[in-house]
Amino acid sequence: MQKALSYTDANFDRFVEELKDFLRIPSVSTDPNHKDDVNAAAEWVAQNMRDMGTSHVKIMPTDGHPIVYAEHMVDPSKPTILVYGHYDVQPPDPLELWDSEPFDPVVKNGDLYARGSCDDKGQMFMHAKAAESYFKGTGSMPLNVKWIFEGEEEIGSVHLPKFLEDNKDMLAADVAVVSDTALFGTGVPSITYGLRGLAYVQVSLEGPDRDLHSGVYGGAIENPINALAKMIADLHDENHRITIDGFYDMVMPLTDEERTTFASLPFDADEWVAEVGASESKTEAGYSVLEGTTARPTLDCNGIWGGFTGEGAKTVLPSLAHAKISCRLVPGQTPEEITDKLQAHFEKHCPPTMKLTFEDLHGGHGALVDTNSDAMKAASEAMEGVYNEKPYMVRCGGSIPIVADFKKILGQETVLMGFGLDSDAIHSPNEKFGLDRFRAGIDTIIRFMSIYATK
Ligand code: BES
Ligand code: MN
Ligand code: MN
Repeated sequence: MQKALSYTDANFDRFVEELKDFLRIPSVSTDPNHKDDVNAAAEWVAQNMRDMGTSHVKIMPTDGHPIVYAEHMVDPSKPTILVYGHYDVQPPDPLELWDSEPFDPVVKNGDLYARGSCDDKGQMFMHAKAAESYFKGTGSMPLNVKWIFEGEEEIGSVHLPKFLEDNKDMLAADVAVVSDTALFGTGVPSITYGLRGLAYVQVSLEGPDRDLHSGVYGGAIENPINALAKMIADLHDENHRITIDGFYDMVMPLTDEERTTFASLPFDADEWVAEVGASESKTEAGYSVLEGTTARPTLDCNGIWGGFTGEGAKTVLPSLAHAKISCRLVPGQTPEEITDKLQAHFEKHCPPTMKLTFEDLHGGHGALVDTNSDAMKAASEAMEGVYNEKPYMVRCGGSIPIVADFKKILGQETVLMGFGLDSDAIHSPNEKFGLDRFRAGIDTIIRFMSIYATK
């Protein structure tokens, strides 16, 4: 293992240069104009894996963007890990808010700025470079490794569950390992054991069949924007609880033990709130900020539009109003269940003056992973080796829906070993990844491979 760590040390600057090349490819999965770039990123990943000496690398097509699969099998009696990451990225918009070009990576004060630097190109690349360090540094690998890198995570991993179904034997492993989450704080090692799910819908109301003069019709024809705004406002009560019938029925409650642990985590809620420029926090009554952001379900209107939104004033009574609404779900809840309950709610509360259209955009299951598995113990030891401190076990408010499928389809637990920070601005302008964390991630993965190999 020491030789692998020394190899990383000796080659780290090159690793960073390679990562920059990877980040120059604008693999925006949601944008059809970037389809060639998404393919180019898959090719780049495959070539990089081949260059490090992994002979078994293939680009596997799906009905959407391709999946890069690689494996390095050393000994069937040794454990096998399945590493997962995504090479697609979010759109860089709004471009004017970036201080440098999103696809022209630059290092400033030890941070690498580019779209995807943290989510997830930088983090998935830690796995590639940890393996290279092991392989080239020691001449072999301590265990069997399989990698899948997908190009559709940011659009809901549309084709990945079927890929898992279709390739169960190929993907057989003792545990899945994912680096696509955040550390609890700067220099605070942590392993994530919970992810939230997601239910995403779009709701539209139609009132009159065309936009009307608000002086001629206002006062006798109901306005769809007013009606939709009221329905959305009514989705929370005065305790900031969600008012949809049965919304909390399936919620797995936090155990007393978990709540005690949450309360003992090194977290300053005031500082956290101040950092986003909000004046104070707003949580569901009875729950802390940390509980609210990671272990309780939410409902947020993500966008609302209709009528006149241009410069100046136009006296219009619009025909249409639209909203995008998403719920973060906790284990126990399913996207199907919540989407049905959302639909029933909107149908029940839609005023008789309005025609409702309800669309299910996408969803994903949350996950809680076993914190006592050998793989978790190995991950914890590996992190401690790098940070000289035992990692905290934390839950994450974001979603990586495929983690539930690793369990359901492949029967695998997942270790979520991420090195991002909330302040890395993933999905936002000026996304970054600290090179110290890129390094710590590679070192941790090397240690993990070595320790887990003997579990
Ligand atoms: N890497 C994130 C998930 C994440 C977010 C982990 C925040 C830790 C902190 C992932 O790429 C992501 O963005 N997931 C989406 C869901 C997906 C279905 C579009 C999300 O959470 O919104
Ligand atoms: Mn991600
Ligand atoms: Mn993301």
